[in-house]
Amino acid sequence: MAVDILKISKDAIEASKKYDDVINASIGMFYDEDKTIGGMPTVSKAIKGLTDEEILPYPAVDGGMIFKKNVISWVLGQYEESIRKHMFINACATPGGSGAIAATFSIFSKPGDSIFVSDIRWQYERFADRAKLNVFEHQLFDGDHFNLKSFRERLVELCKKQHEVIVIVNDPCHNPTGFTLSEQEFKDIIYILNEMKDNSIVFLYDLAYLEYSHESDNRIKISHLPMLQSHVLTIIGFSGSKTFGAYGLRLGAAIMISSNEDKVKAAYPKYVNEARGSWSAAPTASIELFNKFQIAENKKNFLKDLAKINTLVQKRSQSFVSQAKAIGLKTHPFRSGFYTVVLTKDPEKDYLKLAEHRIFGVPMNGGVRFALCSLSLKDIEGLPQKIKTILNL
Ligand SMILES: Cc1ncc(COP(=O)(O)O)c(C=O)c1O
Repeated sequence: MAVDILKISKDAIEASKKYDDVINASIGMFYDEDKTIGGMPTVSKAIKGLTDEEILPYPAVDGGMIFKKNVISWVLGQYEESIRKHMFINACATPGGSGAIAATFSIFSKPGDSIFVSDIRWQYERFADRAKLNVFEHQLFDGDHFNLKSFRERLVELCKKQHEVIVIVNDPCHNPTGFTLSEQEFKDIIYILNEMKDNSIVFLYDLAYLEYSHESDNRIKISHLPMLQSHVLTIIGFSGSKTFGAYGLRLGAAIMISSNEDKVKAAYPKYVNEARGSWSAAPTASIELFNKFQIAENKKNFLKDLAKINTLVQKRSQSFVSQAKAIGLKTHPFRSGFYTVVLTKDPEKDYLKLAEHRIFGVPMNGGVRFALCSLSLKDIEGLPQKIKTILNL
């Protein structure tokens, strides 16, 4: 179901010029309670403080040594040292997490191949279409849990047909459901990937919403990557858009990790080549902005902004989910993050029906997704009831 989310968002913006009761829950951007976008003052200030030298020149295609070191440290956090002991690592700057996904598809597959995805997912088929790939699905849920049985069975099936397989896991704060894997579920996924040792596995770990998970340690799962065996190459897709609330800057990275040095050595120049032959280089401003936040004082202030946003996003989601529960409106299992999905019978028709009532969500497999990150608490008050009434659920 490849709808154009940016178009739905534009329609919502157009409607809000005429009406003041528009609910624009179409897109994953954080808006403040007063509907302004600059929810992270430290980021806005750092952008405005960039000099010409930090904006205008071409950057290194991979982002440069400093950026690579910084982005690896950022993502691996306190586990960097222990991971580096067992694994080989490299990185390449990309325009957003999207660049990392598009490049990974292009590098590790050939037209006609299938990528391994969950049945409920973000729009990976947009990237797959471009690379002329098919999708091969497993079921995401078994009740309130990750469906390990389906993940394993379907992966075994695909691995029999195709030697090199890109396996996508979007965690934490899965888009569109807001589900987050438990540590054990993540470890079980690793065990299953390890079982596929006659294949070459590219584990595309899309952790765009890493900073928004409300786990007691949001990097503990990353610490288990060294368990992956040598037939697996992990590509972490990092999104600066979500991390810094700077969606238009196009900051991201593909981080390559494997216990197999040859895999990382072979992958790195392919990412550089992919960049050079498509987007050329990620914006200098985004690379320099990221590097600013490695300075301890800046990072400390940024983390304060992030904590505020994180608390608010969670409050909004909890408000929606608890109201939904109270009136019997069904959602997918939700833990944290920007979105939740209301289960409906005919998402393609239902989102249009809601749009007629100026409530803009996005149709997904099994329901309509609402980006609660962009709604105020006031918008959310009574929203589940409105949805229930309009859709007659
Ligand atoms: C699950 C997921 N991955 C990756 C991205 C890519 O974001 P960006 O390219 O802006 O970094 C998004 C954006 O919505 C997303 O929801």
